[in-house]
Amino acid sequence: MAMIAKQCPDIPVHVVDLNQTRIDAWNSDKLPIYEPGLQEVVQEARGRNLTFSTNVDAAIEEADMVFISVNTPTKTYGIGAGRAANLEFVEKCARQIARSSSGHKIVVEKSTLPVRTAQAVKRILSSEATNLTFDVLSNPEFLAEGTAVDDLLDPDRVLIGGESQKAIDALCDVYARWIPRERILTTNLWSSELSKLTANAFLAQRVSSINAISALCEATGADVDEVARAIGTDSRIGPKFLKSSIGFGGSCFQKDILNLVYLCEHFGLPEVASYWEQVVTMNDHQKQRFSERIVKTMFNTVSDKKIGIWGFAFKKDTNDTRESAAIYICRDLLRERARLTIYDPRVPAEQIRAELTYACTDNNGQISEVDRQMIENNVEVVNDCYEASRQAHAVAVLTEWDEFKELDFEKIHHSMLRPAFLFDGRNLLDRESMESIGFEVHAIGKSSQRRRSDD
Ligand code: UDX
Repeated sequence: MAMIAKQCPDIPVHVVDLNQTRIDAWNSDKLPIYEPGLQEVVQEARGRNLTFSTNVDAAIEEADMVFISVNTPTKTYGIGAGRAANLEFVEKCARQIARSSSGHKIVVEKSTLPVRTAQAVKRILSSEATNLTFDVLSNPEFLAEGTAVDDLLDPDRVLIGGESQKAIDALCDVYARWIPRERILTTNLWSSELSKLTANAFLAQRVSSINAISALCEATGADVDEVARAIGTDSRIGPKFLKSSIGFGGSCFQKDILNLVYLCEHFGLPEVASYWEQVVTMNDHQKQRFSERIVKTMFNTVSDKKIGIWGFAFKKDTNDTRESAAIYICRDLLRERARLTIYDPRVPAEQIRAELTYACTDNNGQISEVDRQMIENNVEVVNDCYEASRQAHAVAVLTEWDEFKELDFEKIHHSMLRPAFLFDGRNLLDRESMESIGFEVHAIGKSSQRRRSDD
């Protein structure tokens, strides 16, 4: 919405939310989301044609177009628990729009939704006996975190699904202010809804596929980066999204795949469901494999050993930790009784503790006393990589922050215990130079056979 406001100064954009604290943050200099370039975009438009407030009803009443941009987390209870999307917030929005509207509205689904949600939205909108007429559009967002501003300024495509050509044209006209018409694709409602889930499923599948191969590389002496380069130069495959890692995280991939799995099951397609579910299973395996490798390498025990953790966000350039692979790796290491000193340039200590607590909580909302104490006593959040590594038995790189590449590695090595284990979960650091400093390097998809003879 901030980008639309920036690019279309004559269109008033009102962002409304029930949560006053969030709205206050959007009105302040400290935005609730860290995203390179976002501050500037908001600053340019805020107070001109972009406002943030809690006046939900008034904003709906005034608007010609209403974007529903609420979250659709995976359901944690009842039918479809652990897979289906929780549509409670979407439904509440639709009901509020129905209550507060008159005349004609274009209602745009911006949230990622299961196929045929538009049907439900339409029924709710038409159930209120008002003089409201409306069109529903689906306009999924393809931006990735960390590159959101660039992705919005110059997207590969914009997708608009709908039934009414007039409504589709109205939204096309907004995007066409800065995006070439040929990059604005229009489809029917259901194709648009399904395309978003499918795009994320395909992207996540590529990561799981290369991660599956990384396990084989470690076992055979092949190098996953070399394999990725070799296959990525095949123009049919392409080079992107082939970076092997500790596993994908973020708010979308796992949630959307599980949602797709649930939809397939719902429509009586169990084989299709299990095909996609394997992408998530592979991702869980990749996270577990990494923590197991750490334990195994460190003489089968990390109990009471200090491990420096570099990075906690699900990828660089974001403060988002939702489904970050780091959470599960840290939890598993803690359960092996390791002591963790964690540093992330953008994630605050309380958020790290909250994520670890959540990861240790069972389905009934309970956390064991052992886990609780372990998070309290064995997790220290520190202010830089040097502090995280001092007197450590090992360092594990879990997020690919650029600043991790520009450290004084001699100093870090000097401050660590011997052997100085370096587990590179992102293949971020140059292995040869790290080895020449004296680190024992274990990287994703690289065999550990090539040990230094003096270790
Ligand atoms: C994703 C989609 O890219 C975006 O189009 C959609 O709108 C929302 O979901 P996002 O979750 O922000 O975006 O991040 P993305 O860059 O896709 O990365 C997802 C995860 O995959 C991260 O944990 C990242 O580290 C991991 N990843 C990505 C890899 O491990 N290897 C890769 O080659 C690429």
